[in-house]
Amino acid sequence: MRHAVDLSGRVAIVTGANSGIGRGVALELARAGAKVVVNHRPNQDSEQRGHAVVQDITNAGGQAVAIAADISREDDVEQLFRAASNHFQDIDILVNNAGIEQPAPIQDMTLAQWQKVIDTNLTGQFLCARAAARAFLNRTPKPPAEAAAGKIIFISSVHEVIPWAFQSNYAASKGGVSLLMQSLAQELAPMKIRVNSVAPGAIRTPINAPAWNTPEALASLLKLIPYGRIGEPEDVARAVAWLASDDSDYVTGSTLFVDGGMTLYPEFRGAG
Ligand code: BGC
Repeated sequence: MRHAVDLSGRVAIVTGANSGIGRGVALELARAGAKVVVNHRPNQDSEQRGHAVVQDITNAGGQAVAIAADISREDDVEQLFRAASNHFQDIDILVNNAGIEQPAPIQDMTLAQWQKVIDTNLTGQFLCARAAARAFLNRTPKPPAEAAAGKIIFISSVHEVIPWAFQSNYAASKGGVSLLMQSLAQELAPMKIRVNSVAPGAIRTPINAPAWNTPEALASLLKLIPYGRIGEPEDVARAVAWLASDDSDYVTGSTLFVDGGMTLYPEFRGAG
């Protein structure tokens, strides 16, 4: 079957692409024809997984390179973008995906737990978005008139709108991502840079394994999902590919919830 979204010739950086949603996005963008920079954290385990994603892409006939960078660090982000453009020239797409959780009741949450989540999920997304905006604005020659000059896609969460007890650092980071994304979309639209978010619900990845890896946990999770199934990385990846393509050329400043209806207050169905 021919792939519906065409990203051939485009270059995409996907942060945190060694596992979970990031991995799914990297594979999907490559299937759509993009050359993909698979960013991973600079440790042995992430590096191995990052290289495995590159291998999967190249085995399928695509192009990809793994580049290590801790996106919460300014120097690492600068280095990531330099290395990416040395390898693939102009960057067209940033998928700001890398994110972590550090749950704790508020009375026990350490400043380190708060800071680590904000540093990765919010400051890291700012640093990468800034680097991408600079790269798009400095690009010569400009891309063809019918295409955007660049696209930034934030991977947010349903928790940009749903409060989350014991994960206040995480929810605060994603609430921040919501207005960061919209502010950048407003700021960059005149320069033909499109900025959007995909907000996943419960997706089957390592980050939330305890929420789905036993039948009891899965049954209780499904009460929160009107559509009746957990999401898969491909569900998110297809939405990202569309937002990264020129098919969504008139879309900017939007959050696309990919959550099986989790944000629809399912407990109000027949109640209230
Ligand atoms: C979190 C997951 C959680 C999901 C729905 C995501 O942002 O990373 O752990 O399962 O939201 O609550």
